[in-house]
Amino acid sequence: MAEFQVDADGTRVFELEARPGSSDFLPGVQTPTWGYNGDFLGPTLRAERGQRIAIAVTNSLDEVTTVHWHGMHLPAAMDGGPHQVIAPGDTWRPTWEINQPAATLWYHPHPHGRTEEHVYRGLAGMFYVDDPSEAPALPNRYGVDDIPVVVQDKEFTDAGELTMGERQAEPGVLGSTVMTNGVIGAYFEVSTEMIRLRLLNGSTARTYDFGFEDNRNFDLVATDGGLLAEPYSTTRIRLSPAERAEIIVTLTPGDIAMLRSYPPELGDVASSFAFGGEDTFDVLQLRANDYLRPSSAVPAILHNHVRLQEADATVHREFTMAARMINGAQMDMNRIDEVVIEGTTEIWEIRSTDRLTHNFHIHDVQFYVLSIDGVAPPTELAGRKDTIYVEPGRRYRLIMQFGKYVDPEAAYMYHCHLLRHEDEGLMGQFVVVGTNDPQPSSLSGLNHQH
Ligand code: C2O
Ligand code: CU
Repeated sequence: MAEFQVDADGTRVFELEARPGSSDFLPGVQTPTWGYNGDFLGPTLRAERGQRIAIAVTNSLDEVTTVHWHGMHLPAAMDGGPHQVIAPGDTWRPTWEINQPAATLWYHPHPHGRTEEHVYRGLAGMFYVDDPSEAPALPNRYGVDDIPVVVQDKEFTDAGELTMGERQAEPGVLGSTVMTNGVIGAYFEVSTEMIRLRLLNGSTARTYDFGFEDNRNFDLVATDGGLLAEPYSTTRIRLSPAERAEIIVTLTPGDIAMLRSYPPELGDVASSFAFGGEDTFDVLQLRANDYLRPSSAVPAILHNHVRLQEADATVHREFTMAARMINGAQMDMNRIDEVVIEGTTEIWEIRSTDRLTHNFHIHDVQFYVLSIDGVAPPTELAGRKDTIYVEPGRRYRLIMQFGKYVDPEAAYMYHCHLLRHEDEGLMGQFVVVGTNDPQPSSLSGLNHQH
């Protein structure tokens, strides 16, 4: 967990330094890696709704990077997308007020064309948002019964270096080694009857389907943007890159429970095995002590969702992903693809006509899935989401309400979160403007640095 200072005005001030390092993933081998404030990955940042935070991000790499706060509702100039570049040696100082429900968010680099490599080398961390005004009785002691679980796949050379394989590979790196929080063969000693795992698919390309070796049920309590309305008891949860899920697992004294990833259902892709659709991995072994401290039962009601109504949506947009393009265009740093009026409720309809794995992530907002091929979404997709797996050929209708951070000169991104796809152009940009503002079609001015 990251340390912080508190300013005179109450602002929580964090410091992050992106830097090269080296990690001992494999016995007797030092692997060059990148990390925030350390050799690999970064500390968990944590703040409460209503708090102002400020982060000093120093770039000690020898190339430009950025840091994006994935899932956060905040002004576009603070978002850390490809325009907010941090030159080597520089420090970037975003600040904003946390203004959204409790959720498991994360942060990672977003330099245009280089995101896959920056994340793959190790730059990523969790960002927990707490909301004291609605805190159902769930396990919440960090590192005791509330555990971050960052799952990533890696490929090593014989010399123990991380390799990204062929640049042309589709869909990106599918490593043969899975690590959890930077540890191969990770385990955790459980001291309580229930444990909350905050799962993050921190991979650049691989989709997982998490579940336990003995097929035990667990309670899914939260997805990307926060708590579900009520717990959902299930045995599997599929997560594509950047998606999160919070699950509550119940153990008995002396229990051993292996969290694995099972072959994920990827939909109508051309060849499932080529996208990891036949792979199984051990992810995290839970080893329960002989005495477990009692945990309170998972509450029946978790969150009161104020659902957005389809009838309130005044704007409909369609986004079709095909051949590294969205609606026939590749990412252009200068072009504004969509202009959103502040406060508007919109429906975005997403589909992919490639028989490949893609997902879709929208900055700044959390959305609800209205329907998939006209049918209401399954329970695990019924909560607040910022990223969704997009099965080839299906139609995903998403509803969202945009906020009030108006800035015609700073763009938010939407893109496939398979990072090689994103780097190769599967991304677009939108700005949020005021009701009577002109609608810009290109970026100019202060925030534009390319
Ligand atoms: Cu996780 Cu555009 O980012
Ligand atoms: Cu993609």
